[in-house]
Amino acid sequence: MEQLVIEGGRRLEGAVTIAGSKNSALPILAATLLAEGECVLRNVPRLSDIDLMLDILHELGVESTRRPDGAVVTRAGGGGSRAAPYDLVSRIRASICTLGPLLARHGEARVSLPGGCVIGVRPVDLHLKGVRALGAEVEVEHGDIVARAPRGLAGAEVYLGGEFGSSVTGTANVLMAATMARGVTVIESAACEPEVTDLVRFLKAMGARIDGEGTPTLTIQGVERLTGCEHAVIPDRVEAGTFMFAAAITGGDVALHGADLSHLRGVVDVLTRAGMRVTQPQQDVVRVRGCRVPASVNVTTNVHPGFPTDLQAPLMALLAITPGISLITERVYPDRFMHVAELNRMGANVRKQGATAIVEGVEYLSGAPVAASDLRAAAALVIAGLVARGRTEVNRLEHLDRGYDRFEEKLRALGADVTRHQVPLPRRRQSDQTPPSPPAAAAA
Ligand code: EPZ
Repeated sequence: MEQLVIEGGRRLEGAVTIAGSKNSALPILAATLLAEGECVLRNVPRLSDIDLMLDILHELGVESTRRPDGAVVTRAGGGGSRAAPYDLVSRIRASICTLGPLLARHGEARVSLPGGCVIGVRPVDLHLKGVRALGAEVEVEHGDIVARAPRGLAGAEVYLGGEFGSSVTGTANVLMAATMARGVTVIESAACEPEVTDLVRFLKAMGARIDGEGTPTLTIQGVERLTGCEHAVIPDRVEAGTFMFAAAITGGDVALHGADLSHLRGVVDVLTRAGMRVTQPQQDVVRVRGCRVPASVNVTTNVHPGFPTDLQAPLMALLAITPGISLITERVYPDRFMHVAELNRMGANVRKQGATAIVEGVEYLSGAPVAASDLRAAAALVIAGLVARGRTEVNRLEHLDRGYDRFEEKLRALGADVTRHQVPLPRRRQSDQTPPSPPAAAAA
């Protein structure tokens, strides 16, 4: 088992390069199913989730290699299964994004229902509503989504707003399915996240005809076929935001190279209200300087351009040592608070009331052994460890490695004292041992 060991108290200073976006690369990789031929994808991050998606694509007939310059080259043939295998799909929710491309290209798809996870139930009703609107027949059989479009897909108007607003991968799935449907599709209440806009740019480079990217209304004119293309994935705004909070919590001064400030307006607003200084000294460089005493702020997560739910946990780490009371309300995943208990083990004072966390700033956090529950909670615990007194051990690193490319290396380069260690699994009592006999009764 691996753990990160952090000795708190170091101020972060220097420059860090932001990797390509995980949440943009994953649907774009799924979209390579749409076309025969070769796609060259640059700035694809080196993450376990990316490797898993490439394994799924291999099962579906898409071969891929990573070039020495880091670009991922995919080649989709006509063969391959139409069924994304459960043992792979169950480990990554984004595998649901193969549904739309398989239907568009082959008229059939079998994708295991992605399980829930610690941040919420993760329904897919909007995905199914969208492809049904395009004429697919969809059943759920034995835990699999089984979809068929024997007469192909036909353009339609579809409203994709759900109880918690738009759906990022739901929009991606319906968008990809519509690129090769007969006629025009209009998606209302489409997600406006930068990752959806990046997918649109990729699909247009493949020959798709799409308008409205970055707005809640996407219009897609179906085409007969798409071709391979080249594309550079946008920078990861969640990784960038994570380093912004790491700089803020340590009162540091960090320049993020490759970050796109236009994707971070909600984050910059919160950091500025909390007293940090965020500037753009040059194109694609964002500089964050912490302040001596942060100010408490109230934040509500929302769909883009609101404050991103994926940065709610790193924000909580900062507010845990910010004097006063701060309120964090989750409008996207009301249950995304598994990190509260772990932060409280480090001395934080956070109480959950429904979808709101009441964060009462404490003077300091204490290093402790903690366990990550999801990738953003893992990042938050590392950030808390940067300022905690003493040693923090963050366990369950498989979560962290899903979404952060060489996280501890980048933190060390900024001055953090953080190292990765292999540790033995906890010893267990040998359950096949007969329990020790009770002590003999004392001689009467
Ligand atoms: C994407 O997940 C991201 N993952 C998530 O990032 C991110 O937290 C989320 O968008 C919200 O921004 C990827 O892009 C791979 P949604 P997605 O569908 O698309 C509800 C990370 O940490 N909903 O936008 O699965 C849903 O329950 C991950 O990198 C429905 O009700 O999220 C949630 O409350 C975690 N019905 C809200 O919508 C549906 O059919 C937003 O979900 C689909 C979603």
